[in-house]
Amino acid sequence: MPVSTHTTTPFAGQKPGTSGLRKKVVEFQQPHYLENFVQSVFNTIAPCTAKSLVVGGDGRYYNRQAIQVIIRMAVANGFSRILVGQGGILSTPAASCVIRKHETDGGIILSASHNPGGPDEDFGIKFNGANGGPASETVTGQIYQHTQTISEYQTIDAEDIDLDACGSIALQGAVIEVIDPVSDYAELMESLFDFGAMSRLLRNGEFRMCFDAMHAVTGPYAREILENRLGAGQGTVINAVPLEDFGGGHPDPNQVHAHELIERMSGEDALDFGAASDGDGDRNMVLGKNFYINPCDSLAILAANAELVPAYAKGINGIARSMPTSRAADRVASALNIDCYETPTGWKFFGNLLDAGKITLCGEESFGTGSDHVREKDGLWAVLFWLNLLAARDMNVADMVHEHWQKFGRDYFTRHDYEAIDSDSANNMFAELEQKLVSLPGQQFEGLTIEKADQFSYLDPVDQSRSEGQGIRIFTDNGGRIVYRLSGTGTQGATLRVYLDRYEQSADLLDQDPQAALANLIDVANRIAGIEAFTGRTAPDVIT
Ligand code: G1P
Ligand code: ZN
Repeated sequence: MPVSTHTTTPFAGQKPGTSGLRKKVVEFQQPHYLENFVQSVFNTIAPCTAKSLVVGGDGRYYNRQAIQVIIRMAVANGFSRILVGQGGILSTPAASCVIRKHETDGGIILSASHNPGGPDEDFGIKFNGANGGPASETVTGQIYQHTQTISEYQTIDAEDIDLDACGSIALQGAVIEVIDPVSDYAELMESLFDFGAMSRLLRNGEFRMCFDAMHAVTGPYAREILENRLGAGQGTVINAVPLEDFGGGHPDPNQVHAHELIERMSGEDALDFGAASDGDGDRNMVLGKNFYINPCDSLAILAANAELVPAYAKGINGIARSMPTSRAADRVASALNIDCYETPTGWKFFGNLLDAGKITLCGEESFGTGSDHVREKDGLWAVLFWLNLLAARDMNVADMVHEHWQKFGRDYFTRHDYEAIDSDSANNMFAELEQKLVSLPGQQFEGLTIEKADQFSYLDPVDQSRSEGQGIRIFTDNGGRIVYRLSGTGTQGATLRVYLDRYEQSADLLDQDPQAALANLIDVANRIAGIEAFTGRTAPDVIT
């Protein structure tokens, strides 16, 4: 096999987290930059001889070029079977599904998730292992070590593969299979949910829904599943064609960026059900008629009603939520007499619990929900789960959520983000907060007494690994909680996230606006940390 090696300068990459390497496109376009990262992945999992690999991405700018580079390098490194999504497309959950179903040795996913795309915007790459989940911290650490010392990479001399035609291509001893990116995933969804009942709901002529694919990767998936297989009317999926720049939009499914969907879900003529997903298809936002469902509540409601879904009819093993996510799911777990695990922020912490069979459902407040069907969070899966419940319960979204609050009480939740603040100021603020923690219990602010203040740490019950310093928590005597964290995914300066939640049980107090219901807790959070003094900001940039 002709292998040409190129001497390169050491790779100046950031340490990749388990969400991989995310950088501006121009950085990836530097000579040998992408190649060095890919070779470092292959060196980490070496020997690659006779191994199989899945490759695909969210369709953003540079996706196709990167895939051609990766295919040539994979062949040169000895992989014998490479599965590529047609057009270079594979949503993150679909890639996880394909890795598991075809039992490959792993996959490379190209995406910068919900970050904008285009020549001046972001690109990203990550490696998922044979379980379909993001590589562990040990593996990403090894990849990083290789990037520091790499001096050559392997590739072959070959023309670009035609990514647009499905079929097998023999290439210098390897087989490249260009596969339909949707069918394996759609089949998996059909095996989990009651497509009969969902189809009757969608065809009954009364129920109206909209799915906003935000010109990102879920368009083809949502069209095939919702419109073709379930019979929702044509046009149910909007912004359905994946574009390299996401149509200039910001493919993040929240109330700010999914504004077209929000319009259709508001006012007198609002639709019954709306949903959106992000760039690579792992996040979800679900809405009812003039009704927003908080992701923390969504996880709790899915768990409480899981037995109505064929795949979970025998019950769920356990639930996990990230620490800043409200404790709504805990209440359901205790009613179901199952365990609820509290993990640090980030999907990677759910992997061990899922692999060990300790949990079936998991989720984060940041619009991520998932189950043991794959090893990534899954946007469209969450939407189909809701549709299955609406069909089985024959109820509208608002009634279902209200019923849940009546039964379990409501955990009011909000997150305040302060973006692109000065990193030094942010670090100083945290240093001072950490020093204050011991003296806080017993102190009063705005009529609330602090009961407990600590830093969250996590002991993984499966591999016994410890994660320290995973966020500052303050508990108040009104059932409230304040959490402070610095974002690990922001790209400019520091992003401060303040999470606020409070439990309410009085039947007549369940329908407040979360900002009002949490107003004094928000004041306490600002006062204790001195947010304005340290950051100069008087209000958050984003409230979810
Ligand atoms: C954010 C979210 C977190 C999620 C991650 C990747 O991370 O808060 O829940 O797992 O994106 O989608 P952060 O920027 O807060 O570190
Ligand atoms: Zn994503």
